[in-house]
Amino acid sequence: MPSPQPVDMARSRVFGGVAETYDAARAGYPDALVSAVLGYAALGDRPALEAGAGTGKATVPFAAALTTPLTCVEPDARMAEVLRRNTSPYPHVTIDVSPFEDFRPGDTRYGLFFSATAWHWFDPDRRWDLVHDALAPGGAVALFWNPVGVRDPGLHAALAEVDRRHGLTGTPHAELASSYGDTPGQWPGMLGHWPALDCEHDARFTDLRSLRFREDTDYDTAHYLDYLSSISRYATLPPHHRTQVLADTAAALTAHGGRLPVTRHHDLFLARRT
Ligand SMILES: C[S@@+](CC[C@H](N)C(=O)[O-])C[C@H]1O[C@@H](n2cnc3c(N)ncnc32)[C@H](O)[C@@H]1O
Repeated sequence: MPSPQPVDMARSRVFGGVAETYDAARAGYPDALVSAVLGYAALGDRPALEAGAGTGKATVPFAAALTTPLTCVEPDARMAEVLRRNTSPYPHVTIDVSPFEDFRPGDTRYGLFFSATAWHWFDPDRRWDLVHDALAPGGAVALFWNPVGVRDPGLHAALAEVDRRHGLTGTPHAELASSYGDTPGQWPGMLGHWPALDCEHDARFTDLRSLRFREDTDYDTAHYLDYLSSISRYATLPPHHRTQVLADTAAALTAHGGRLPVTRHHDLFLARRT
């Protein structure tokens, strides 16, 4: 989720240590979102660029739908290794192992830039300039996240108590599903950070749109603990503290039947280079 600026570098580079868990436990993005992005971008024969590709949770469905080249930028070699494996069926995908801030488009100008659950890790002072420079005129920007809200208020309160005891804030179960409201980008963890707020006053971008796709799903305890282990906030805890937090979270889940019912929100921001 968006972090207060500047970016916490230690947290932004922690994912490689949990790359396989990340790949197994994290949710992907729905086909409807991919279709909405590609419909908006109307790429034609222009290539696409993704930054913060991770293990390919968004890359794979985009690669499957795209016929033009897709370049993925991912700074962590261990995440990139899983990404390489996951995208091996797609020869039009190339992987650049570097931070987005070091990526140079050369002579290529892209018809689409997208980033899934990663925009908040890029240098806030440079990221719009980098996107603008990489895009062809009329090229599309698509930024999206997939936060969850807990559907059971009793379980939400029990998990909040665990978080309070351990001094944790902003965990994936910090919000009730009902607190998300109906406006894309307006969930509590994103308030004040939705990219539209930057773009509204930036004449380099136009045709701003915000969309939401929702799905209800359940985690069992083991899957939810793996999901938490892939979150930077948990991955950066001292090991003994992480073990205790996960044990207490598991106990709260077990006391509520061993399942966590959530609504997942896929919030998508679209804009176009003028
Ligand atoms: C939460 S993961 C999202 C991965 C993937 N896009 C997904 O949706 O599952 C954030 C990813 O951004 C990468 N990242 C962090 N800082 C970055 C930067 N400055 N430039 C590019 N990627 C970065 C991390 O290594 C990590 O793979």
